[in-house]
Amino acid sequence: MAGCDTNGNHDKKCKSRLMITVIGNLKGGAGKSTVAFNIGVWLAMAGRTVVAYDLDPQKTLHDVASIRAEEGYKPQFPVYLSDIQLTGKLLSHSGDVLIDVGSANIDGMKKAITVCHRIVIPVPPSQADIWSTQRFIRIIEQAKGDDMLELLAFINRADTHHAVRESDEAAAALATLPGIRLLNSRLRQRTAFRRSFSEGLAVYELEPSSKAANEILALTAELY
Ligand SMILES: Nc1ncnc2c1ncn2[C@@H]1O[C@H](COP(=O)(O)OP(=O)(O)O)[C@@H](O)[C@H]1O
Ligand SMILES: [Mg+2]
Repeated sequence: MAGCDTNGNHDKKCKSRLMITVIGNLKGGAGKSTVAFNIGVWLAMAGRTVVAYDLDPQKTLHDVASIRAEEGYKPQFPVYLSDIQLTGKLLSHSGDVLIDVGSANIDGMKKAITVCHRIVIPVPPSQADIWSTQRFIRIIEQAKGDDMLELLAFINRADTHHAVRESDEAAAALATLPGIRLLNSRLRQRTAFRRSFSEGLAVYELEPSSKAANEILALTAELY
């Protein structure tokens, strides 16, 4: 396609431009793999070229993609495990690359940070998660140096009970962290996310008109 190359030097209309998105933070259970999977299926459904790298030794994203493949659900997208040749391999892709990283593989995480265009950070609404996000930002700053990088945070697992203010407080605290852009979308704690994930389905495939589906679709629209 004219005007494109795989280094991200491209005009904005170019569909096959390379966009590397890391979905990361330090704590397990924040929803990295769930979000990466739901976004990956959405991109594939939209007919975009999408590949993912699962750099977390828990390999959850790889597992859910394997279940999807075993069940024969379409569309599928490849999930690679190795981060050894990450840099070289990444630049050979075009389209959308998703990288799922966690603190159990700090080297892989740093490598992903140095090559990505942006980092999407799911944050559960607790003080401990805000602290750990602060620490994650420091790791990003150290790995990335002065380079510009978009840091997009959102609240995941927000309480569904409206009287609980914890999510609003956590969102306000997140918004004050250096370099962070707080996304408007919020995912609430909903069993539909777990149910769909365990079956190898995106939540909007299993329960298309659910609140969970609306929430993840709003998040995806904000990101793409
Ligand atoms: N918003 C949510 N509501 C309910 N369950 C969720 C939500 N986000 C994630 N989960 C569930 O929590 C567990 C951990 O999520 P996961 O995506 O594996 O986290 P991480 O990759 O950050 O360790 C999974 O069972 C997942 O389905
Ligand atoms: Mg995970």
